[in-house]
Amino acid sequence: MLEYRIDQQFEVRYDYPVCFTRDAFAPGNPVLADLLRPPSGGRARLLVAVDDGVANALPGLCDAIEAYAETHAETVELACPPWAVRGGEAAKNAGADVDAFYRRVVRFGVCRHSYVAVIGGGAVLDAIGYAAATAHRGIRLVRMPSTVLGQNDAGVGVKNAVNWMGRKNFLGTFVPPFAVVNDFALLASGPAADRRAGIAEAVKVALIRDAAFFARLLRERHALADLQPHALEPMIVRCAELHLAQIRCGGDPFERGSARPLDFGHWSAHSLEELSGHRLRHGEAVAIGIALDTLYSRRVGLLGAADAQQVLALLADLGFVLSDPALARLDIAGALAAFREHLGGALCITLLAGIGRGVEVDTIDTQAMADCVRMLADWHPRRAGVAPVPAGALS
Ligand SMILES: NC(=O)c1ccc[n+]([C@@H]2O[C@H](COP(=O)([O-])OP(=O)(O)OC[C@H]3O[C@@H](n4cnc5c(N)ncnc54)[C@H](O)[C@@H]3O)[C@@H](O)[C@H]2O)c1
Ligand SMILES: [Zn+2]
Repeated sequence: MLEYRIDQQFEVRYDYPVCFTRDAFAPGNPVLADLLRPPSGGRARLLVAVDDGVANALPGLCDAIEAYAETHAETVELACPPWAVRGGEAAKNAGADVDAFYRRVVRFGVCRHSYVAVIGGGAVLDAIGYAAATAHRGIRLVRMPSTVLGQNDAGVGVKNAVNWMGRKNFLGTFVPPFAVVNDFALLASGPAADRRAGIAEAVKVALIRDAAFFARLLRERHALADLQPHALEPMIVRCAELHLAQIRCGGDPFERGSARPLDFGHWSAHSLEELSGHRLRHGEAVAIGIALDTLYSRRVGLLGAADAQQVLALLADLGFVLSDPALARLDIAGALAAFREHLGGALCITLLAGIGRGVEVDTIDTQAMADCVRMLADWHPRRAGVAPVPAGALS
């Protein structure tokens, strides 16, 4: 029998700025120093972790960070010289990197009132983000993403994670960052294929939330395919804005329910990445997943033929190869089951009821989906700009 019950309730408000700049560590750039300036005076103690892919591509970066701290010595004090962390998925696979972070925190006196800045791709942001969120029960984190995907998606949200026993993102927390600084000048040194892959997340969020953004992507597709900064940079800003709006206004920032609209196109993408032995980058697999769920949305009568045609044409014109051999090995039922487990509840898949209009469904007709997989696997764009859709598929 219940003897006593107290209903505890409180709310916590989160605020964090997402800043866009160029050459964040140029001595005269005030963005980072302004963010770090403690409101009550004194100096911010800062531990900087740098993705070694970035450090190798930009050999002057670590010196520039130290020079920046000297220039802004009234505001910032480096706890130790910038620390290079191995880049890519390896950062998330090995507990050793997280452990090395904890040891640095202890050794260099980084306390709960200090700051951690992490410069890198989504993987390093995730790993150091997880380590910072758990050391001292949370050290303030400034994310400085160095990839397109990091700047327009992974780096602006509230999640971090590392992999454990081969399970992707098994250990992780929901912790909003203290701030995000997107430095456009970091992007150019990354591989072209990585920059292109990040564009898929913009197509994704445009399709579920913003028809005008989709129209803009369509207009700018050739400049985007050429990775021209004048097209990439506004794309990153709008994509980040839409991800932030979904987290802020979607009613479920910490993903307690099952709907995950930002995972449009991802149920098959996760599986295709694995089936390809990670030959397919995340964004490349997402582009295929978007194409597949677009074909399926058309097939079940949710989406008009012309709209479906435009989506596939855009992805092809952006340079994505949609008919990957991994499609032939896609186990639809298995991938949907794995995705349901990833959602942690009932199956909830986002489809399209129009450009800019994502809708959630709780069942997938696996036969119809198998037809769409076959269509996509056999499909080859005849030439850029011409809607490259299998005859009869979209009528
Ligand atoms: N937390 C989230 O909400 C979230 C969302 C989406 C993706 N992610 C995670 O992001 C990761 C993928 O991130 P990614 O696509 O940014 O790739 P990545 O972090 O795997 O980096 C790819 C490679 O590029 C190198 N690199 C990064 N920036 C560079 C630069 N400017 N110059 C030269 N080399 C550079 C890295 O060292 C690495 O070798 C995955 O682990 C994924 O799970 C997290
Ligand atoms: Zn994604």
